Amino acid sequence: MSQVQQIKEAVSIAQIIGERVPLASMGRHLRCCCPFHGEKTPSFYVTEDLGYYKCFGCGKAGDVFTFLEEYEGMSFREALEYLAERTGIKLESNFAHKGQDEEKQILLNILSESAAWYQKMLERNEGKAANDYLAERKINAQTRRLFGLGASGNSWDELTKFLRGEKKFREEELIKSGMIIKSKNGRLFDRFRGRLMFPLKNHRGQVVGFSGRWLGKEDEKEAKYINSPETSLYHKSELLFGLAENLPAIRKEGAIVLVEGEFDVMSSAQAKVNNVAAIKGSALTAEHVKLLKRYVNRVILALDMDKSGIEATRKAAALLQREEIELRVAEIAEGKDPDELAKESPLVWREAVKKSLSVYDYFLLVLQKKHNINTIEGKKKMVSEMAGFIHQMENAIERDYYSKKLAEIIKVRQSVLESDLAMLKRKADATISSVRTVVKPVDNKGEKQPSKKELWLLWLLFNSSSEGMKKKKSDLRANMPKWTLGRDRVLVEKLMENKKEYRLKDFGRDLADDLRERLGEITMNRDFARGSEKIEIDEEWEKEWRGALLKKKQKLLKELVKKLEETQDEEEKQKLLAECAKLTKELTKAA
Ligand code: CTP
Ligand code: MN
Repeated sequence: MSQVQQIKEAVSIAQIIGERVPLASMGRHLRCCCPFHGEKTPSFYVTEDLGYYKCFGCGKAGDVFTFLEEYEGMSFREALEYLAERTGIKLESNFAHKGQDEEKQILLNILSESAAWYQKMLERNEGKAANDYLAERKINAQTRRLFGLGASGNSWDELTKFLRGEKKFREEELIKSGMIIKSKNGRLFDRFRGRLMFPLKNHRGQVVGFSGRWLGKEDEKEAKYINSPETSLYHKSELLFGLAENLPAIRKEGAIVLVEGEFDVMSSAQAKVNNVAAIKGSALTAEHVKLLKRYVNRVILALDMDKSGIEATRKAAALLQREEIELRVAEIAEGKDPDELAKESPLVWREAVKKSLSVYDYFLLVLQKKHNINTIEGKKKMVSEMAGFIHQMENAIERDYYSKKLAEIIKVRQSVLESDLAMLKRKADATISSVRTVVKPVDNKGEKQPSKKELWLLWLLFNSSSEGMKKKKSDLRANMPKWTLGRDRVLVEKLMENKKEYRLKDFGRDLADDLRERLGEITMNRDFARGSEKIEIDEEWEKEWRGALLKKKQKLLKELVKKLEETQDEEEKQKLLAECAKLTKELTKAA
C-alpha cells in the first residue's frame, strides 16, 4: 500500500472535515451547508465509508486530500504532511519535496527570512525612525511582537544582500517572492525601503507578503503604503491583515470587526477589541467571505462613514446576502477612524462595536440623512433605495419589522408602503429573471442520465446491509436490469463478482477512483437520503423489485402474444402458448 493510501485509510475524513464545518448526521452519511458555495439548505455530503465528500449543489467532490487543498489552500504535499502528523504515520524520506511544492516552500522561506530581518532592523538602532513613529502612534511592545512588525532601511539593497549573499537564495526565486526587484540594467534592489513593515499572513499564519508604511514626510513621490505584488503566495483579494494573529479571539466571538487599515487593527487590539482584521483599504471580496465563513457568523463593519464607506457597506451587504452571515455596522463619528477612536476613547470604541447596528438600521439612518423625507420625492427615493434590502430578507418577521420602521420614518401607512414595495419587487423580479443564467446539472462525464427509478434501485442496492445484499444479488442474477449509465453497470458487475460479504467501505476500497466517486454519488443521493432513517432498505427493494419484475413480465407477455399471432409453425405455437400460460399465472399470482 502506498503511503498516501495508508494515510487515507488511517484518517477519518469525517473528523478532518468535521473540525472545519458543522457536519450533522444524515442516515449513514454526514452533511452540512457546502463550504465551497453559498447555500442555505445542506447539499454537502460526507461519507466515512468511502472517504469521500460531494456537494450536490456545486459538484465539488473528492477525498480528504482534495478537501484540505480546496478548503485550507494546502498543496498536496502539505496535506500529506499534515495528515501524516495527525495519524502518526512517518513519511518515508523518499517523499522528497517536488516541483511546485518545493518552490512554494522556498518562497515561504524567503518571506519568513525577510520578516525576521525587518524585525531585527526594528530592534536595532537602524530602526530608529520606525521606533519613533510607533511610539508617536502609541503602539506598544506587545502589539509589535504580536504582529511581527519590522523596519526596512534606507539603503537600496540591504535585504537583497542578506537574502542573496548570506542566505544564498536564487535570483529567480527572490524576484518571484516579490521582495526583490530587478532593474533594467540587471541590478537587484529591495522593493521596500524606509518603511514600517507589516508582515501579511495567510489564515494559517504563514507570511505571504508585506505592506510598508512610509516613514518619511508626506511625500508625493512616495506612496503612503505599498504592498507586495501579486505572487503565487500573496493574493490581495484573500488577505485580511490581523486575521491570523487575532484568530483565537475571532473564533471565540464568532464575529469579526472589519476595519480599513493596519493601525486600526493594532489600536483596536490595544483597546481590547481583539476580534478584528483589516481589508486594507480595498473592498470586501467573495474570497474574504469564503475565508470568514469558517470562523464567524457575524461581520461588523467599521469603515469610514463617508461616501466610499457607505458604498463599501452596500457592496458588502450584497455579497453577504446569500451567506448565513449577519452583517452589522459599528457607528463611528464622522471624520474619525477606529485607530483614532480606539486611542482617544477605548471605551467608546468598545461600545460602538457592542452596540453595532444591523446593516438595515444603518441604511435607514444613512438614507434618512440623504433624502428630505418631508417631500413626496424624498419619500419615494427612500422607499426605492430601501426596497432592495427589504426584499432580500428571508424572514417575514424581519421584513415586517423593517417595513413598519420605514413607514414610520417616512410617515405613511404600512399598507400603502407595502403595496409600493410589492410593485417594486415585481419590477425587480422581472429584470432578474431575464438575466438569470441557467445552472447546468452537475457534469456526468458525458454519460446519459439514469432515470430516477434506476437511481433509487441503485441507492437501495448499495446502501444495503451485508445480510440484505444476498437476497438482492439473487434477484439481480435472475433478472438484471439494463442500467443506463455505463459506470452503474460496471459497479453492479463488480458487485456481482465480489464474493466477499458486502460492506460499502470494503467494496469501495478496491474500486478505481471514478467508480468510487460514482458509488459515492449514488449512496449519498440527497433525494433519497432525506429521512433515510425511516426507510427499510430491504422492504423497499422488495416492493420496487416486484414492481419492476412485473412490468418486465407484462412486456414479455405482450411480445409473446404478438409472436403467437404471427407464427405458422405448430410446434412453435405450442411452446409460445405454454410460456404465455406460465407468465399469466405468475402475473395473476403477483397481482
Ligand atoms: N492602503 C494601501 N495602499 C495605499 C493606501 C492605503 O494598501 N496606497 C491601505 C493600507 O492598508 C492602509 C489602509 O489602506 O492601512 C487605509 O489607508 P488610509 O485611508 O490612507 O489610512 P490612514 O488612516 O490615513 O493611514 P494611517 O493610519 O497609516 O496614517
Ligand atoms: Mn488611520
